[in-house]
Amino acid sequence: MVKWVFIFVCFIWVFPLTTLDAQGLRNSHHDFSGAAWSGNEFCKPCHTPHNAAPASLASPLWNHQLTTATFTLYSSATLDAVPQQPGGKSKLCLSCHDGTVAYDNHSGITSGTRYVTFGNITTDLKDDHPISFRYDAALATQDGHLYDPSTKMSGLGGTIEEDLLENGYMECTSCHDVHLSRNTQGCIGCHDIHGSGTYTETLSLWITNFNSTLCLTCHKL
Ligand code: HEC
Ligand code: HEC
Ligand code: HEC
Ligand code: HEC
Ligand code: HEC
Repeated sequence: MVKWVFIFVCFIWVFPLTTLDAQGLRNSHHDFSGAAWSGNEFCKPCHTPHNAAPASLASPLWNHQLTTATFTLYSSATLDAVPQQPGGKSKLCLSCHDGTVAYDNHSGITSGTRYVTFGNITTDLKDDHPISFRYDAALATQDGHLYDPSTKMSGLGGTIEEDLLENGYMECTSCHDVHLSRNTQGCIGCHDIHGSGTYTETLSLWITNFNSTLCLTCHKL
């Protein structure tokens, strides 16, 4: 009995540690090591062990300047959900990806000069998949073409709600894995460097989108 408890405890400890090492980040666009502005560190532009932003934030030990932008929200004639100003983890992403905050503004530095180029979502979210709204059984019923997130399995081990939502909310992190834990191949995991050199797939997604698998995790036709 004691032995099995020990093995179980090892499993739940080792699993998060191995998925959160620098392997996936290495040679990704979130690999900030090797740059003077990051202090040659992977994690520092986003997390710090000390003097972090308030603990109430959606990510532990957050170390990046936060955006103060007011966003234009997604809306449409058919939308049932009620998006709010980006909160939770989406706000963390947008603190580099809305184009208003330099990505080298971390550790209290506010004089950065580097801004995202191809990853600029801008403060206009009207042309982006809606985020920062509650996605629950009631929304699924109202919409008619969505799975109930509390019962539909995501394919990652739990339900959509458990694996992809943040406290019941749809956020950037419902689709994206900021640590790129599936990237074991570096640049070629996404770029076809021997062919056209262009981008072929994104390992930043929790679930591949070949055959629209990601989309069809939540949407049913
Ligand atoms: C580009 C910014 C960025 C970088 C670089 C980054 N993180 Fe994170 N991290 C985040 C965000 C955003 C979250 C919250 C989102 C989430 O939990 O999926 C997070 C969550 C976490 C968590 C708690 C959630 C979990 O998955 O257990 C840990 C622990 C963590 N990061 C460790 C690290 C370590 C260690 C490094 C460096 C090897 C690192 N991070 C690099 C942005 C980053
Ligand atoms: C510290 C700044 C920073 C934070 C925080 C950050 N990013 Fe990025 N991200 C970048 C930079 C820099 C690039 C390179 C693209 C560029 O320069 O336009 C990038 C690229 C990307 C890419 C394109 C490359 C790829 O991996 O497919 C995706 C997707 C992405 N980020 C998603 C996110 C999401 C989702 C979050 C929040 C969970 C996030 N980022 C948080 C700085 C950041
Ligand atoms: C519904 C799922 C979903 C949500 C929510 C989502 N993304 Fe994405 N994102 C994708 C997919 C899929 C791609 C790849 C697009 C492609 O390959 O055509 C992508 C691509 C990107 C890229 C790569 C560069 C580009 O513009 O194509 C960045 C950066 C990015 N997303 C950031 C974000 C941020 C920041 C948020 C939250 C504000 C977010 N995403 C919310 C699914 C999503
Ligand atoms: C997780 C997937 C992923 C990884 C890993 C990755 N890239 Fe990218 N890369 C992207 C995406 C997505 C884009 C944006 C493509 C677009 O919007 O058309 C991009 C864009 C680029 C661009 C064009 C930038 C611009 O300003 O137009 C270059 C150059 C590039 N990547 C080089 C690299 C190199 C070098 C590596 C390894 C160090 C790398 N990428 C690793 C996903 C990735
Ligand atoms: C984690 C679940 C989830 C994933 C993954 C997801 N969506 Fe959604 N999506 C939703 C929910 C929930 C809504 C809100 C629907 C509503 O209220 O009408 C939505 C809204 C939309 C809308 C707007 C609908 C309207 O009436 O304005 C479109 C279009 C859409 N999604 C397309 C996609 C595509 C394309 C993908 C794959 C790249 C995708 N979604 C992935 C959950 C998801």
